[in-house]
Amino acid sequence: MESSIAILVLLLVSLHIHNIHTAEIDIISALQFLKEQDTLVSPGGTFELGFFRPGVSENKYLGIWYKKIPVKTVVWVANRNAPLTVASLGVLKIVRPGNLVLVNGTDGITIWSSNTTSSGNAVAKLDDMGNLVVIDEDQKHIIWQSFDYPTDTLLSGMKLGRDLLTGREWHLSSWKSSEDPAPGEFTFSVDTNGYPQNILKLGDTIKFRSGPWTGVWFSGASTSNQHPIFTYNMVINETMLVYTYNLVNNSVVSRLTLNSSGELQRSVWVEDSKIWLLTLRLGNTVCDPYNICGAYGTCTIVNQQRCSCLNETKFVPRNQESWEKADWSGGCVRRTPLDCKNGTDGFIKYSNVKWPDTHSSRFNKSMSLKECEAVCLKNCTCMAYANINLTGDGRGCLLWFNDLNDVRVVTEGNGGQDIFIRMASSELEAVTQPVFKNRRTNNKFILLAVIVGLFFIGLSSTLFWYASRKRHYAQPIVDRELFQIYESQKEHMELPLFSFSIVSQSTASFSLSNKLGEGGFGIVYKGVLEGKEIAVKRLSMTSKQGLDEFKNEVICISKLQHRNLVKLLGCSIEGDEKLLIYEYMPNKSLDMLLFDKTQSKVLDWTKRFHIIEGIARGLLYLHQDSRLRIIHRDLKASNILLDLDMNPKISDFGIARSFGGNETQANTERVVGTYGYMSPEYALDGLFSTKSDVFSYGVLVLEIVSGNRNRGFVHTKHDNNLIGHAWRMHDEGRSMELTDSTLDEPSDPSKVLRSIEVGLLCVQESPEDRPDMSSVVRMLSGEGALQKPKKPAFFTERNLPAGSDYSSSATNYPTSSTSGLTVTHVGAR
Ligand SMILES: *[C@@H]1O[C@H](CO)[C@@H](O)[C@H](O)[C@H]1NC(C)=O
Ligand SMILES: *[C@@H]1O[C@H](CO)[C@@H](O)[C@H](O)[C@H]1NC(C)=O
Ligand SMILES: *[C@@H]1O[C@H](CO)[C@@H](O)[C@H](O)[C@H]1NC(C)=O
Ligand SMILES: *[C@@H]1O[C@H](CO)[C@@H](O)[C@H](O)[C@H]1NC(C)=O
Ligand SMILES: *[C@@H]1O[C@H](CO)[C@@H](O)[C@H](O)[C@H]1NC(C)=O
Ligand SMILES: *[C@@H]1O[C@H](CO)[C@@H](O)[C@H](O)[C@H]1NC(C)=O
Ligand SMILES: *[C@@H]1O[C@H](CO)[C@@H](O)[C@H](O)[C@H]1NC(C)=O
Ligand SMILES: *[C@@H]1O[C@H](CO)[C@@H](O)[C@H](O)[C@H]1NC(C)=O
Ligand SMILES: *[C@@H]1O[C@H](CO)[C@@H](O)[C@H](O)[C@H]1NC(C)=O
Ligand SMILES: *[C@@H]1O[C@H](CO)[C@@H](O)[C@H](O)[C@H]1NC(C)=O
Repeated sequence: MESSIAILVLLLVSLHIHNIHTAEIDIISALQFLKEQDTLVSPGGTFELGFFRPGVSENKYLGIWYKKIPVKTVVWVANRNAPLTVASLGVLKIVRPGNLVLVNGTDGITIWSSNTTSSGNAVAKLDDMGNLVVIDEDQKHIIWQSFDYPTDTLLSGMKLGRDLLTGREWHLSSWKSSEDPAPGEFTFSVDTNGYPQNILKLGDTIKFRSGPWTGVWFSGASTSNQHPIFTYNMVINETMLVYTYNLVNNSVVSRLTLNSSGELQRSVWVEDSKIWLLTLRLGNTVCDPYNICGAYGTCTIVNQQRCSCLNETKFVPRNQESWEKADWSGGCVRRTPLDCKNGTDGFIKYSNVKWPDTHSSRFNKSMSLKECEAVCLKNCTCMAYANINLTGDGRGCLLWFNDLNDVRVVTEGNGGQDIFIRMASSELEAVTQPVFKNRRTNNKFILLAVIVGLFFIGLSSTLFWYASRKRHYAQPIVDRELFQIYESQKEHMELPLFSFSIVSQSTASFSLSNKLGEGGFGIVYKGVLEGKEIAVKRLSMTSKQGLDEFKNEVICISKLQHRNLVKLLGCSIEGDEKLLIYEYMPNKSLDMLLFDKTQSKVLDWTKRFHIIEGIARGLLYLHQDSRLRIIHRDLKASNILLDLDMNPKISDFGIARSFGGNETQANTERVVGTYGYMSPEYALDGLFSTKSDVFSYGVLVLEIVSGNRNRGFVHTKHDNNLIGHAWRMHDEGRSMELTDSTLDEPSDPSKVLRSIEVGLLCVQESPEDRPDMSSVVRMLSGEGALQKPKKPAFFTERNLPAGSDYSSSATNYPTSSTSGLTVTHVGAR
């Protein structure tokens, strides 16, 4: 008896279970409801709408999530504020006249509704972008869509901003907690007061402001965050102020989310490892908190002293005492107050700036920069102006009123812009200091003498150069630059000069324990100057080359400003002692990490690709974008330094050459460079051009991908160098085998393959077949078609032409730390 009851119960239970079958439907209509166990699926099966319970919560919500992703990721919630309780059973249906409603099936009460009406039949569908739409079947148009009601996630194609015609506003709001999708306190929205900018707020307090749109990007945002898998877009016109992004490739799954602790993050789904990979976290660096340094203050990530005034000679802390106690909220004020009434104010240009808060700003897209200045000058509350490059023809005027808040000089990315800040007339005077900015009093005259001396050396060697050379020869940078400096008083080289004794002290008298490495023309030491870590290169005292290199480096680097070039902070000249002072690079040089099997793991694929891109940008800047067109001539792993964030910086400009006008190629009698990185035409014929740098870059890329040196590469199966090996692998479709085996699988193999192809293109035998650096940058970012590489120059010492006497006559200079040899070869022709 008892057992038959048990069987009956079992039967009933299994019958019941059997009854709960889930259905996948593709449309909701007046006839077709969505019941709690069912889901509405998009045509391509990308998204799914249904009921879910967040975390351990008992409450049920109607939401949209990725159907194919095993980690349930809800991107939208309908009834955020009105959960269904355990006792209720949700039903989603269309009711007359075209209203999408979520009802409590137990008592029939409406929990949530789209509040829409339609003239004919209405249906609801989910599309493959993740948008739930209600369509009026008669009018064939969308009468409601979930994309207009974002929750905490911005998907590709969704809008953020404001429609000025309808007044509709789109913003993200965080969940209260991971168990409660109700709107939390964090919002991410477009501040449409003034020129639009994106802001993250906690309640009414701004926590973080991403800079205003500059026409291509957000002011001040590191451009290394630009991801080739998206295109970003900001519509700024009379009716719309809207930000959107679109996926370039729809098979990449990515989202931007404001999580419940107020972190704004972009993540990409990695199918292989089945995880969401964070690719970007916005607003989480020490300098990101809104207006951390107050008005006219600027924040630095590297210094212990977080805040300083925009320009310490022109602005002073509003309250010196609290400033010294690290309370920076008061910000800075102009040292000389403005004198607007007399109409004598003017503007000083600041570069690399994350534009200030545009909350009280105005803009006009058709005004030129000149008109912009005039308008700003006329209004005493106008504190700055800038060019918004909206149309791309230099037009577009942005004016700031009142104090400039949350402004920042961006040092760690290249995302800063120019801004013209109003200053009193007495602050505008042209600086008439000598070429070297003088730090410590009376060196001025000595300095001037040195410059004049250098100038004459330069002048005479220029003359000699011209006399002894025909056209097409590149000039040493030194001479022409000194020429320019003298020609034009405006050309200032603001390079601080330090006394030898102070620099010597900073390195504990160049003690061996402070030695960082050894370069071609001197030893590099670590030092601490004014509380800041520095690297000091002490040039070998005797060599004539040392002096050339010194001049070259001083003049070359101090003129160059790019995040991917090492920065020269100052120099010292006293008697025979010549010192160059650089920013200190905590992660040393690339070769030290890359070729060390125990340390190379630090350089994961993301970092390696970042380094590959960074070097390309630095080189592009040298070749094209800087005023001096420069050929580096000694690009190699040991000349790539890495900062704290593993940003690569090209260093060692000792043998760089500058190019004028239309010259593209030059010839030298002194072949200087490094085995393994030299292009064939340079090593054999002494011909150098930007394309010989491209060759070296190609070698470097292959080295970064493989973790092997080109020179000294050995393989059990053949005796090619790394280039040859890379080509073999590529030719056999086995490129991935080239990759550094000590690393985990790359999350994005296509980037690795792209890098290899770019590397191979760069090491083509003939310079014409090598891309220029702008194409390289484009190809790396996934824009532009990749040409197919041909068989490259298998350039090794082993196949140098007979009669070549490289190794015997080359003078070898050991470079930083390891075996990369810089060679000087005289008389290659
Ligand atoms: C749904 O209806 C049931 C039965 O009336 C009720 O107990 C429950 O609280 C309702 N749920 C909601 C969220 O209103
Ligand atoms: C529909 O109207 C109700 C009542 O006015 C409102 O609470 C709800 O937010 C509206 N729903 C939508 C999706 O706007
Ligand atoms: C503003 O931009 C939107 C979106 O690109 C466009 O639909 C609209 O027509 C534009 N309005 C004006 C006045 O240009
Ligand atoms: C999109 O990405 C997928 C997978 O990464 C790839 O197979 C496909 O070729 C890409 N499509 C385009 C147009 O790049
Ligand atoms: C939000 O994201 C940050 C960064 O990933 C993480 O540390 C934090 O725990 C997240 N907050 C919640 C509530 O998940
Ligand atoms: C500050 O102003 C001085 C004087 O005009 C100028 O030489 C210097 O480059 C400025 N510094 C910065 C960081 O802009
Ligand atoms: C304007 O300039 C005159 C003469 O240069 C000076 O005397 C006067 O104080 C200035 N006015 C203001 C408001 O500074
Ligand atoms: C923008 O500037 C132009 C030229 O100065 C002017 O004609 C136009 O009226 C201005 N537009 C607005 C909206 O102020
Ligand atoms: C200066 O500009 C502000 C902000 O647009 C405006 O409110 C004020 O009236 C202007 N002042 C003058 C004198 O035009
Ligand atoms: C600015 O305009 C120039 C040409 O007018 C264009 O080449 C450049 O790409 C634009 N830059 C930005 C940041 O929009």
